[in-house]
Amino acid sequence: MLIDLTGRTALVTGSTQGIGFAIAAGLAGAGARVAVNGRRRQSVDDAIDRLRQETDRDAFIAAPGDITTDDGARQVTEAAPDVAVLVNNLGIFGATPALEISDEAWRQYFDVNVLSAVRMIRAYLPAMKERSWGRVLNIASDSAVVIPVEMVHYGVSKTALLAVTRGFAKDAAGTGVTVNSIIAGPTHTGGVEDFVYELVDPGLPWDEAQREFMVKYRPRSLLQRLIEPEEIANMAVYLSSDLASATTGGAVRTDGGYVDSILP
Ligand SMILES: NC(=O)c1ccc[n+]([C@@H]2O[C@H](COP(=O)([O-])OP(=O)(O)OC[C@H]3O[C@@H](n4cnc5c(N)ncnc54)[C@H](OP(=O)(O)O)[C@@H]3O)[C@@H](O)[C@H]2O)c1
Repeated sequence: MLIDLTGRTALVTGSTQGIGFAIAAGLAGAGARVAVNGRRRQSVDDAIDRLRQETDRDAFIAAPGDITTDDGARQVTEAAPDVAVLVNNLGIFGATPALEISDEAWRQYFDVNVLSAVRMIRAYLPAMKERSWGRVLNIASDSAVVIPVEMVHYGVSKTALLAVTRGFAKDAAGTGVTVNSIIAGPTHTGGVEDFVYELVDPGLPWDEAQREFMVKYRPRSLLQRLIEPEEIANMAVYLSSDLASATTGGAVRTDGGYVDSILP
C-alpha cells in the first residue's frame, strides 16, 4: 500500500508531544504539510524543530493556541486556514476516585475532551464538504468503552467523542469527507508514565512499573505492553489517506486488543 498525502494540509491538535507528536510525524512522513498545535508558541516551535530532525521534512506550520477557548481556536484557524485532515488529538486524563470528581472537573473534561473537538470540526468541516474531500479523526480511548473506575469522567468524555464522530459523519454523508475515531489503547507517552506512577510504587524502575500497571490496572490487554505512539500514528496516517475512503462513522481500534469485543 502506498500512502501519499502530498498536497494535503493536516492539523493535529495537542501535537507538541505524545501521540499527537507521533501523528504529526507520521503525516509529515507521508508527504502532508502539518500544522502543529499546543498552548504556547515556544513549545510548538520546539516540537517543529524535533519534527524536522525526525522526519527530514520542512513542511510544518506553527499553530499555537488554546483550543478550549474561542480566541485560541481562532488563532489556530488563522494560522492554518485550509485544512484537509483534522486530527482532534487533544485530551486530558488523570485518576480521581469516582465519588470525588467535582462538577468543575466534569465540566473541564467535557470542555477539553469533547467541546474542543466539536469546535474544530465546526471550523473546518464546511470547507472540506465544499471541496468534496476531507478527513476528520477523533482520538478516543479504550476508556470510552471500558469505563475505568479511577477516571469515570475521562471515560464518559471519550464515549461522548465516539457519538460526536458518528453524528458528524452523518452530517458529512455523501460528500467525500470521512469522520472516524481511533480507539487508542494504553500508550507509552510521558503523560502515561506520570499516570502509571500515580497508581504504582513511584520507586519502581519503568519496566517493572509498566508490568505492574498492566497486570493490576489493564489486565485485559492482549498485547500485554503499552502501545508505542507510532503504532497509533500508523492507523491515523492510513485513515487520513485516499485508501481509507470507505471507512467513515466508525470507531477503529488500535487498542492492543484491550476492548473485549469481536466487532471493531
Ligand atoms: N496516552 C495514552 O495512553 C492514551 C490512551 C488512549 C487515548 N489517549 C488519547 O490520546 C490523546 C493524546 O494523549 P497523550 O497522552 O499523547 O497526551 P499528552 O502527552 O498529555 O499531550 C497533550 C498535548 O496536548 C497539548 N495541549 C494540552 N492542553 C491544550 C490546549 N488546551 N490547547 C491546545 N493544546 C493543548 C499539549 O501541548 P502544550 O503542553 O504544549 O500545550 C500536548 O501537546 C488524548 O486525547 C488522550 O486521551 C491517550
